[in-house]
Amino acid sequence: MAPSPREASSALQQALDESATAVNKTIQRLLPETDLAESRLYDAMRYGVMGGGKRLRPFMVMQSARLFNVDPSRARRVAAAVELLHCYSLIHDDLPAMDDSDMRRGQPAVHRRFDEATAILAGDALLTLAFEVLSDRDTHPDPHVRVELVRKLAEASGGHGMVGGQMLDLIGENEEFDLGTISRMQRMKTGKLFAFACEAGAILGRSDDKHKKALCNYAFDLGLAFQVTDDVLDVEADPADTGKPANQDGPASKSTFVSAMGKEQAKARAEMLIHQSIRHLHIFEGRGEMLKELAMYVLERRA
Ligand code: IPE
Ligand code: IPE
Ligand code: MG
Ligand code: MG
Ligand code: MG
Repeated sequence: MAPSPREASSALQQALDESATAVNKTIQRLLPETDLAESRLYDAMRYGVMGGGKRLRPFMVMQSARLFNVDPSRARRVAAAVELLHCYSLIHDDLPAMDDSDMRRGQPAVHRRFDEATAILAGDALLTLAFEVLSDRDTHPDPHVRVELVRKLAEASGGHGMVGGQMLDLIGENEEFDLGTISRMQRMKTGKLFAFACEAGAILGRSDDKHKKALCNYAFDLGLAFQVTDDVLDVEADPADTGKPANQDGPASKSTFVSAMGKEQAKARAEMLIHQSIRHLHIFEGRGEMLKELAMYVLERRA
């Protein structure tokens, strides 16, 4: 079950739980226990993926797939792939060479529970497994669809996306970024993967570009707002809710919206972005209601 986002409406909470349960089963099947000599790697991968998490990105895939009447078993595989990749990013983000964080999802980080080398390898193997899953025929019978999924996830997660954003994040510890650069960094770190998760349903459903674009725009703004609220939670949330240590960014001299404009203005910026993101859903009329609720939850979340 997905950890309870305290402010989620009961309809959203139920939908999040259902999606998390279904996607967790798919992930379990992709990461079976083994008695191979290298089973430590798989133990670390399972530990890094299965121990909690809000499962928001898989939810985005499942919801966007619903908009285009995509077979849920296909959507679940893409949702699992996105979560595997996200978990790799968290495992590497926590490493001593990066954020040096000891706790994740309420448990010791993978490099603390295992060791640094195992954490690096578990992250590598989760990243590559994500692409193995997307490129498998079970994900979609049309190879053009599979290639589009692979290409767009690679773009979202590589140098022009999450990894490039993580590089900027580290550079920003020693340089004072302006707001434009901070926005670009946060959109790359978090917005790009959100955009892939939301567009994935449209790709699976072979939708037109107009609908794909609307979902990407929604998710890109939502992703930036999500990273802004993450930066706010770093200074004001209870680690018992977030499952990760508080007040990590200031001591590391990170460039964030909070460091650049203060907590209250950062919250106002997140609110503006959330309203902007919701406006992109108009094209779906009433059928984008869950995505709208998700956006409202991002603004109010405490975890
Ligand atoms: C944490 O993401 C990393 C950021 C992009 C801020 P989440 O807050 O979605 O982490 P989990 O998956 O719920 O643990
Ligand atoms: C990480 O951002 C975003 C990723 C791409 C992994 P943070 O470093 O702020 O995430 P947390 O706060 O450790 O979850
Ligand atoms: Mg980080
Ligand atoms: Mg971090
Ligand atoms: Mg953070």
